[in-house]
Amino acid sequence: MNLQLKIWRQQNAGSKGKMVDYSISGVESDMSFLEMLDVLNESLINKGEEPIAFDHDCREGICGSCSLMINGEPHGPDRLITACQLHMRKFKDGDTIVIEPFRAKAFPVIKDLIIDRTAFDRIHQAGGYISVNTSGNTVDANAIPIDKHKADEAMDAATCIGCGACVAACKNASAMLFTSAKVAQFALLPQGRVEATERVQNMVRQMDLEGFGNCTNTGACEVECPKGISLENIARMNREYLMATSKG
Ligand code: SF4
Ligand code: FES
Repeated sequence: MNLQLKIWRQQNAGSKGKMVDYSISGVESDMSFLEMLDVLNESLINKGEEPIAFDHDCREGICGSCSLMINGEPHGPDRLITACQLHMRKFKDGDTIVIEPFRAKAFPVIKDLIIDRTAFDRIHQAGGYISVNTSGNTVDANAIPIDKHKADEAMDAATCIGCGACVAACKNASAMLFTSAKVAQFALLPQGRVEATERVQNMVRQMDLEGFGNCTNTGACEVECPKGISLENIARMNREYLMATSKG
């Protein structure tokens, strides 16, 4: 395939970025989207030009670092996959592909397609843990019976990889889907109930401090989430927050 690429280039956080046009040929349909960018970067390096900076680590849908806006969609046109799992067979010869970083005030661009998602780390740090004594007193997992549905829902919430697609998809740049998944994975389990009140208040406070917008129930986040995190988690977080704040 021969493709036309329009890619966001930005030298650093302080500089003004712009879209730059590139042509690429010989793209195989079995290549992943990131492999296609690798090929482009090799050709740029061979020409003495600066390669395009983009984030990646696992390249198998686990780490959440490959945050790319592809033709206006976080992680591109496929569903329930990350940009690194997207394959070029989704495109056809002669296509133009627009590639940008995720856009949100709380996710400033570091360089080209790489954004700073440490705001998510700080939300996680505000409550994404349980305080347990692990110094030789660990209780066998089966000692606390847990309802199967609750365990499944907690596990589903825990599959959030912190990629930020929910924020990028939302017209308000809301981080409610991410934060609610992090709240839910603890709130649904007995071990997480001990600190549930402080957890939801601290995580929501941090989310607001970071400058994310509010949820207006458009559901774009759920549609674009590569892990299928359900909007039900947002409703659960709102209930948790209401209960926590009414306790005073
Ligand atoms: S909720 Fe989904 S889209 Fe948002 S950070 Fe988690 S995995 Fe990514
Ligand atoms: S590179 Fe890890 S999820 Fe894409």
